[in-house]
This record gives sequence, C-alpha cells and structure tokens, in this order.
Amino acid sequence: MKREDLLKEAFRAMENSYAPYSNYHVGAAVSCTDGRVFWGVNVENASFGATNCAERSAVFAAYSCGYRKDTIDGLAIVSDGERIAAPCGICRQVLSELLKQDTPIYLSNGKDEVDTNIAELLPMQFTEEDVLR
Ligand code: THU
Repeated sequence: MKREDLLKEAFRAMENSYAPYSNYHVGAAVSCTDGRVFWGVNVENASFGATNCAERSAVFAAYSCGYRKDTIDGLAIVSDGERIAAPCGICRQVLSELLKQDTPIYLSNGKDEVDTNIAELLPMQFTEEDVLR
C-alpha cells in the first residue's frame, strides 16, 4: 500500500486511541501484501505498565490473523504530539522480530514525517538466533 494511504489509515485508527492517563494519542496501521490493513492504537491501563503501544497492537493484530513478516509490507505510526512518535524500546524489540529489517516504517505527527525501518531504529539486535542456538 502507498505510503500516504497507509498514513491516512493510521490517522483514522488514532481516533480510537484509549489514552485517558497520558492524553497522548497514537495510531498505527500495518499493510499486508494482499492489501489487508490492520489498525492498532495505544490502549492504556490504570496499572500503567499494562499499557499496549499502538504499533505493537497493530502488528499483533496482523499476526493474530496469520500474517507474518513476509506478508507485511509497511507500518505507519502517527501521533498527536509536538514531535513524531518514534517507537519505544519495547516496540523496537518486538518489531525487530516481527518485521523484515527493511520493511518501511512511516512516522508522522501531521507536521513532520520520517521514513525509516527497524534496521535503522534498532542496531545491534538481540534476536531469535541468539536464543535458538
Ligand atoms: N506510545 C505508543 O503507543 N507508541 C509509541 O511509539 C510511543 C508511546 C503510547 C504509550 C502510552 O499510551 C502513550 O503513548 C504515552 O507514553
């Protein structure tokens, strides 16, 4: 799916963000090679550590429907912050296993835009190869 279209999907998803504590809204959209799109939002919790980030929600949704890194071709992450929301450390670790290294990741806050990928966001990765030896 085209970059601009996937970003639009992520902005639509962001309307569903559940962020009563931070009031910081994040939306994400994963596109698949067959054209399907999965949305994700940040879902917060009174026990703050139980919060799920938008990009993890979206990628988990795609995996839950049987898609895998070979059938995922893009991820958009958008926020309503002053700066673009670059994925947190936990999300980077998750994305490093669940996306291909060069799958495009589009970041936007409606003002600034950055295109990146997980190889760039997380150098020197700890991977399944380290564990499954
Ligand atoms: N958050 C995301 O959903 N994705 C990011 O990339 C950064 C942070 C959420 C988690 C929490 O609900 C809120 O933003 C503030 O940290």
